[in-house]
Parts: sequence; C-alpha cells; structure tokens
Amino acid sequence: MNGILIHQHGAPEELRYQTLTPPEPGPDEVVLQTLVTSVNFADIKMRRSLYRGRKPPFTPGFDGVGVVLSTGAQVTQLQPGQRVAAYATGGSYAEQYRAKEVVCYPLPDEVSNEDATGIGVMITAYNALHWAARWTPTETLLVHAGAGGVGSSAIQIARALGAKTIFATVGSDDKVSKCQLFGADHVFNYQAEEFAPAVMEATQGRGVDVILDTIGGSILEQGLQALATFGRLVTFGHSGGKPASISSQPLHRENRAVIGYSSGGYRKHRPHLLQETAKTVLSLMAEDKIHTQIGARFPLSQASEAHRWVESRQSVGKALLYPDALFPSS
Ligand SMILES: NC(=O)c1ccc[n+]([C@@H]2O[C@H](COP(=O)([O-])OP(=O)(O)OC[C@H]3O[C@@H](n4cnc5c(N)ncnc54)[C@H](OP(=O)(O)O)[C@@H]3O)[C@@H](O)[C@H]2O)c1
Repeated sequence: MNGILIHQHGAPEELRYQTLTPPEPGPDEVVLQTLVTSVNFADIKMRRSLYRGRKPPFTPGFDGVGVVLSTGAQVTQLQPGQRVAAYATGGSYAEQYRAKEVVCYPLPDEVSNEDATGIGVMITAYNALHWAARWTPTETLLVHAGAGGVGSSAIQIARALGAKTIFATVGSDDKVSKCQLFGADHVFNYQAEEFAPAVMEATQGRGVDVILDTIGGSILEQGLQALATFGRLVTFGHSGGKPASISSQPLHRENRAVIGYSSGGYRKHRPHLLQETAKTVLSLMAEDKIHTQIGARFPLSQASEAHRWVESRQSVGKALLYPDALFPSS
C-alpha cells in the first residue's frame, strides 16, 4: 500500500509518498481501508519537530474515515465492512491505518465520509465548550481562528446549541464573511486591530463569558482583557508559535479561570467520554445542523501541498486528503 512517511523533521517536502508495509491490527485494534483523511494543525507541528514523542520515520495523521478491513482478537463491537471515523494509532496519511476500537465511531448512513472526516476537530470543539468551559448557550462566546478547522466547528456547534452571541477572530479580511456564514455574529481581524478593545466595546464593557483560544502567546494574554467576571478561557493550542505568560492577579480578583484542554488526554484517560461526544456531533451532522467545512481536497501523494496551504494561513475549514485512487476527479 501507499502512504506518507516523514524521514526527518522539516519543511513540507519531508512528507514523502511511498510504498509502506500494510498494518496488522493489535489485539484491541482494527485496520481501516482509508476513504478520506485530513490535515490537522498538529500534523504540521509533528512534521516540524518532536511532538508527543513521535520520532522519524513515522506516518502522520491523527484521524480519518475508513472501512474496517480486519479486527484484533479482543475487538468485540466492530465488524469488517463497517464504516467508521477513527483516531489513528500510528498515522492516517496512508491507504490503510490502525485504530483502537475504543476510539472508532461507527457512522450513521446520513453522515457523509467528508463530514465525518472532521470528527477530530468537532470532538475537540464540543469538548472545549462543554467539558472544559462548561459553556451554556445564554453565555457569550469568543472563538479565535474562527475560519479554521476547530474554529469553524466551534462556531457551528455553539450556534446549533442555541448560542446567544458568538464573537470570532480571523487573520485576514477575506475570512470574515466565511465566519459569519458559519454562524458568528461579530468577527474581528486580529492581525489588523487589537481584538480586546473591540470586544469590550461590543459588550458594553462587560467582556465575554467564554474564550476558546488555540493561538496562545500575546493573543491569549490579550484575551484576559476581554474576559468577563466569572469568565473561562480554554487554552488548547499554540498556532501562534508561543505559549502565553500570564499573571494570576486578574484571575482570582474577578473569579476568572484559565483551563487547559487536550483531546489526546481524553483519548488516553477518558476515551469513553469521547464516544459520548462523537455520538452527539454525529447526530448534529445527521440532522443537518453542523457540517465539516471543506477548504480544499488533495490526493495523498500531494500531502506536502496541503501542509503548505494550511501553514500559509490562507486555509478556511479543512484540507482533505484522499487515497490517490479515490481522489474525486471534479
Ligand atoms: N488540544 C487539543 O486537543 C487540540 C485538538 C485539535 C486541535 N487543536 C489545536 O487547535 C488549533 C487549530 O487546529 P486546526 O487543525 O483546526 O487548524 P486551523 O485552525 O485550521 O489552522 C490554524 C489557524 O491558526 C491561525 N494562526 C494564528 N497564528 C498563526 C501562525 N503563526 N501560523 C499559522 N496559523 C496561525 C490561522 O488562522 P487565522 O489566519 O485566521 O489567524 C490558521 O488558519 C491548533 O492550534 C491545534 O493544535 C488542539
């Protein structure tokens, strides 16, 4: 079978398309025939440098959609032929990949392969809102990088759950209208202006109840100036390249909280809660309330192009990767 192997950390060219040994399932795993997978920002971090202990050579890819080909001896629920979305044990940028049964999510007929390929960002967005922030729909929400994979998912989920007011930030003016289409009420270009004063003005000096921050650094620090009393800021990514440095002073005085979130941590320690979340987001997809936003499609052999596109900050929604033989011609 064919797939991507990273021989050494570095630029997108390090994503090499080549023949790989077909995987065998571990006792609690299945092997999936890949239908479609996608680029997550963490794939880029992993390609650039050591991330979560992954040393080259390795195949990247956190999640994907496939058909069960074979099952390990301890697998009890899944059967060959079933269509599932699943987190990969190794990497999903390949024609076949392994997944633990506990992080496989059987797909309802109403959910398309392309919608299901957003399962990872949808689960992350839902859990950041629900489990980490304990957000309720009457509370105001600010989503950073609102046109991206996680951002577009969070805006749609919040809207589907009845959000009162959603604020979003984006890095360029052309993404503003996209965010509004996803369901954001007020969108700020945080590359062009400081978003905190704009949010304070729009909320009559109150600030927002919940901030979903995947950028870190100075954006997170500025976010604390736009967080309401009793507000919660969830930090779950450093797309900006740097972690934040914050003081506890403005937190305790105003009953504010900064909360960390990691889907990887849930996969490791609370995989059964992810099953619950997956059912919720798949139901919302089946009911036509949320959809994976697709920015571009690439064949697996052009995964390096897909990485370049996401790194350029031009991307909206997700970059999908198809096994070359399944790549849609139009
Ligand atoms: N903790 C978890 O469990 C978890 C799970 C999934 C994802 N994440 C995190 O969530 C974030 C979003 O992931 P995603 O896959 O959906 O990616 P994405 O949002 O589609 O792409 C990243 C976006 O970050 C923004 N950005 C800001 N500063 C940037 C910089 N210096 N370089 C590149 N991009 C920058 C860009 O949007 P603008 O140009 O509009 O600013 C870019 O489009 C990532 O930080 C990822 O690590 C965390």
